[in-house]
Amino acid sequence: MTRLLFLTGNAGKLVEATQFFAPLGYQVEQFLIDGEVPTVIEPQADDLRYVALSKIEQAIAHLDACGQKAAVLVEDAGLFIDELNGFPGVYSASILEQLGLSGILKVMSDMNERGAEFRACAALWDGGQVIFGEGICRGTITKETRGEKGFGYDPIFSPEEEGTARTFGEMSSAEKGKYSHREKALKSLKNQLG
Ligand code: IMP
Repeated sequence: MTRLLFLTGNAGKLVEATQFFAPLGYQVEQFLIDGEVPTVIEPQADDLRYVALSKIEQAIAHLDACGQKAAVLVEDAGLFIDELNGFPGVYSASILEQLGLSGILKVMSDMNERGAEFRACAALWDGGQVIFGEGICRGTITKETRGEKGFGYDPIFSPEEEGTARTFGEMSSAEKGKYSHREKALKSLKNQLG
């Protein structure tokens, strides 16, 4: 098994990546130094790939500094709502913190057009080069929160293959994986790994 250190503080993302990479011979571990996720500075940019590149460069520097040998993974994602011109997008984490899901639903309460998409960009350093994988999942913002599974915006997002029947919050991580932006981004990485 190859060790793959995932630099994330998000337990939900860790579960999804662990399930994805295990059959490929990678043992995913959270990237920790002295029990803490190493600090990375997220650049203010409206491009997920730019953010992922900056994060992987910082992650590689942390790996060098602590003398560990492993592959490294970072990933950046956001929810882009059509009627809000792609907002919150790269600001998804801070907007969720400030408004909560109920605040987002309130902002959208008069909107009938509820199309949106999750986008993800993953970057993996295999010890020699950095490869990128991107994924998009189109869907609908529901009118109420549904389900307690997953994380983040999952309870208000229903992928288009489901109509509005089920949100990601109502799916197991394997079911979410059939549609998810992150799974698509990781699949793209997998194809490049050969
Ligand atoms: P980041 O990639 O960790 O910066 O994520 C930005 C924001 O989007 C955070 O609030 C995440 O919780 C949220 N987010 C990212 N991916 C997903 C997902 O798959 N489902 C729901 N929310 C997500």
